Amino acid sequence: MRPILGGNVPPERVVGRDAFIKGLWQSLENQSAVLVSERRIGKTSVLRKMANEPRDGWYPVYMVIEGVRSPAEFISRIVDAVSPILSRRKRNLARLQRFFDEIGGQPVGTWNLPELKDGWKKLLVSTLEDVRDNFDERVVFLWDELPLMVSNIKDDHEAKVAMELLDCLRDQRVADDSGKLRMVFTGSIGLHLVISELLHKGYRNDPTNDMETFSLEGLAPEHAQELALQGMQALVDDGDIKLAAPAEALAKEIAEGTDGLPFYINYTVDRLTEIGEPVEVPHVAQAIDSLILDPEDKAHFDHYAERIEAYYLYDERSDDLALLILKILSHAGQPMAEGQIWDDAVAQIELTSEVLFQKTLNLLVKDHYLVRTVRGSARSYAFKYRIVQRWWLKNRG
Ligand SMILES: Nc1ncnc2c1ncn2[C@@H]1O[C@H](COP(=O)(O)OP(=O)(O)OP(=O)(O)O)[C@@H](O)[C@H]1O
Ligand SMILES: [Mg+2]
Repeated sequence: MRPILGGNVPPERVVGRDAFIKGLWQSLENQSAVLVSERRIGKTSVLRKMANEPRDGWYPVYMVIEGVRSPAEFISRIVDAVSPILSRRKRNLARLQRFFDEIGGQPVGTWNLPELKDGWKKLLVSTLEDVRDNFDERVVFLWDELPLMVSNIKDDHEAKVAMELLDCLRDQRVADDSGKLRMVFTGSIGLHLVISELLHKGYRNDPTNDMETFSLEGLAPEHAQELALQGMQALVDDGDIKLAAPAEALAKEIAEGTDGLPFYINYTVDRLTEIGEPVEVPHVAQAIDSLILDPEDKAHFDHYAERIEAYYLYDERSDDLALLILKILSHAGQPMAEGQIWDDAVAQIELTSEVLFQKTLNLLVKDHYLVRTVRGSARSYAFKYRIVQRWWLKNRG
């Protein structure tokens, strides 16, 4: 099984996520969930595996909704996803049909009616109630790229519409005491970044405070090694590489050098094909360096910087400040005290607001760039992943 470089991972090839998925299913018994992580850690892989291998008594509906740009379109996508299942079971979305009948006898499926511009809330509620009542199983919507949808809606309509959609979904979750309707939100950008923009525009609610947050991390060492071994084995079988060291020793080196991040494991294994001689342990570091220094940035490290430029917009200096903090920390060999980071930052840019500084540090922690350690009242920070720190040092340091 050759390494998959960024495409969808077939569910049976998702390595090392069984325990995480089990925990998520267990939690869904009681409440809905938000799945968060840095980019490319495997959120989509987890959701697709859940959709493919549902737990008994559940009906998962996986939907990628990044292109959705209005509430009506969102509802239409839900209807498209569930209708074929219901009609096979000789059930239908009766409330939804009634709604369309009321607004002018239109058949279900006419989504650009002017009435929907204002009437979408009622329509969303009807649809979700229909889903809940017509499935025998408990339904869990796995909404991938939901934050992008909310961001699109905010851009194309008023921010108010985006807020109301989040609120309406929350109301439905809270009102549902049957436990038959659950939602999982995830996406490549954090929902908190989009909500932070909405907060800026006067939003005061916390639309996911009824949901459990699940943070997806890199793979545990044994699973990281398993993924590396699988990939190397395929390349050996195909005659693309020869190994001059025991495969286990190489896999261990790959797992450690990539912090167990599956995306970089796959890329590192792939890079071994460029070594040009039988692979020894030091070649692994060489392969990782070639990824980090790749002028085309095939492993997409630049996402880490782009995301800040695009979403750290709560202050006109916030993106510059976040990038500077990361630059400062990329040079640090050990966790750095908050006061020291402040001193280094004020030496380089005009910075007077401690509030802004704190907020930016907090967000970098929340976004998985940094980890914070607290001893007594002293806080210090370091990059969460050494491979990202190395990229930052070499490319932005
Ligand atoms: N459990 C896994 N087993 C094997 N490969 C994985 C696994 N998780 C992630 N990968 C690798 O990482 C890549 C990205 O995975 P995935 O698309 O699931 O991540 P994501 O967190 O949804 O990314 P994004 O934040 O960009 O949406 C995959 O193409 C694959 O190379
Ligand atoms: Mg994804």
